[in-house]
Amino acid sequence: MIIILLLCASLILLYCYFYYGRFRRLIAKIPCKSGLPFIGNALEFCVYSQEKLWEIQREACKNHYPIYSFWCGPIAFISIHHPDDIEKILSSTTENLGKGYIYTFLKPWLGTGLLTSEGLKWRKRRKILTPTFHFTILKQFVNIFIEEGNRMTKFLKDGNISNIDDLANFMSQHTLNAICETAMGTSLQNINEFQQRYRQAIYEMGNIITYRVMRPWFHPDVIFSLMPMGKKHAKNLKILHTFTEKIIAERREYHKNTGGRYLKLLQDTNMMETDDEKIIGIKKKRLAMLDLLIAAAGNNEINDSDIREEVDTFMFEGHDTVAMGLTYAILVLAEHKDVQERIRNEIKTVMHENEGRLDITALNNLQYLERCLKESLRLYPSVSLIARVLSEDIKMQSYLVPSGAVVQIHIYDIHRNPEFWPNPDIFDPDRFLPERIKNRHPYSYLPFSAGPRNCIGQRFAMLELKAIIASLIYNFYLEPIDYLKDLRFMLDIVTRTTHPIRVRFVPIERLQPEINT
Ligand code: HEM
Repeated sequence: MIIILLLCASLILLYCYFYYGRFRRLIAKIPCKSGLPFIGNALEFCVYSQEKLWEIQREACKNHYPIYSFWCGPIAFISIHHPDDIEKILSSTTENLGKGYIYTFLKPWLGTGLLTSEGLKWRKRRKILTPTFHFTILKQFVNIFIEEGNRMTKFLKDGNISNIDDLANFMSQHTLNAICETAMGTSLQNINEFQQRYRQAIYEMGNIITYRVMRPWFHPDVIFSLMPMGKKHAKNLKILHTFTEKIIAERREYHKNTGGRYLKLLQDTNMMETDDEKIIGIKKKRLAMLDLLIAAAGNNEINDSDIREEVDTFMFEGHDTVAMGLTYAILVLAEHKDVQERIRNEIKTVMHENEGRLDITALNNLQYLERCLKESLRLYPSVSLIARVLSEDIKMQSYLVPSGAVVQIHIYDIHRNPEFWPNPDIFDPDRFLPERIKNRHPYSYLPFSAGPRNCIGQRFAMLELKAIIASLIYNFYLEPIDYLKDLRFMLDIVTRTTHPIRVRFVPIERLQPEINT
């Protein structure tokens, strides 16, 4: 017995020697951010604030273009910033790539929902959820986005409020309601207190997860759960899950009260293969993504915890990213009065051509606004960093990156690479004119990532951004209180600032302030 144990131990040691030997040798060839033996850069990550870490990342990306490596304890990270290298990673089939280490810490919250799942599970889920973003369904969602924009306008005008002291917070209140009404089929209008606690918990969760990722000694659950930060984590987790469970329970109740007849429609219908008329028929009942999940559970394709992890994923991904996108777009437009005026004129023209209404076709015709939003997402992408862990060696432009390394893709820095974006810090919506997009590297612009694991909600997001900005620009002159040059960012799951952002909404008196849907 002892001999067998010794033999096994020697084999494991031999394996580690060869694996780490080769692994370390390959990583060592890549330009390296200097660190300490054994712990690498872990110390600097745990000492510095999230703001400082943001700055360190920007510096490192500038100083070590187009690739660098660093260690955080036993984990090797490779940062890449060249579109050719990024293409190799993002266009790769998901079988070769995992979401990896950093995403592990999202799992207590998001389970293995669409954002964090891998392999077969991911493929199956993506197939179930893709019809939720069918054109005919998005068409119905536009009404909700416009209503939300009208609600914002009413709140600001009726309350005589012109200065908003925390724009991101204000926006996220509305984007959370929009994702709940569209994807979950539930309005939050009457549960304001709950939703405030939920949004605060999301904010704190971002800080906690960033804190934990940077400290390898807090990675094991047993240790982390005993720490004060671990306790805070558990408290927030409870708030987040209680909220999503409430949303699911409410929707189940709705189906119980309607005798399950709408669910039956979904269970009998493969939406991918259904013509538009039928889908519209179903959507007239405002059936949502959550209904699709409940119907799939009825068909035994998924279970209750599968539903919860997708609801958690979509509630988070579907509101916080859009809220930050809106926040930065408003700030950019507030500083560019001429651009604002041009957008206002475009909205008036499109509405005039569309009998005073904004629907999906009208929104699609707001081409200048679209260019402005794309440019704003270039300068201020809501997600600044994504990562993948390699499950096979990948040859980059100049280095072979071994399987097991965590590859970081810094979207923020790619978007400001002067090789692809001349005068990168200047706001210029015309960068997105069709003739200028044509010749650009497709992997130099990645606000929604790219390849098979791109953002499933990107068309949803663009429509929501357009509908809400259109409503605000139509009714208000936007004026800066805080300026973009003074913003201080911090490392987080979404791109946040260290201080609340303030902006002024100066009302434009209109006979008809509400935009019709
Ligand atoms: C401005 C708004 C948005 C931005 C900038 C954004 C950005 C992104 C990015 C960069 C990813 C890739 C993440 C990664 O690889 O780790 C992603 C994935 C994802 N996004 Fe979005 N997103 C936005 C809005 C939305 C909305 C509105 C929804 C849902 C309604 C959504 C749902 C998702 C989901 C579920 C994934 C995971 C997809 C998969 O792995 O198959 N996002 N998003």
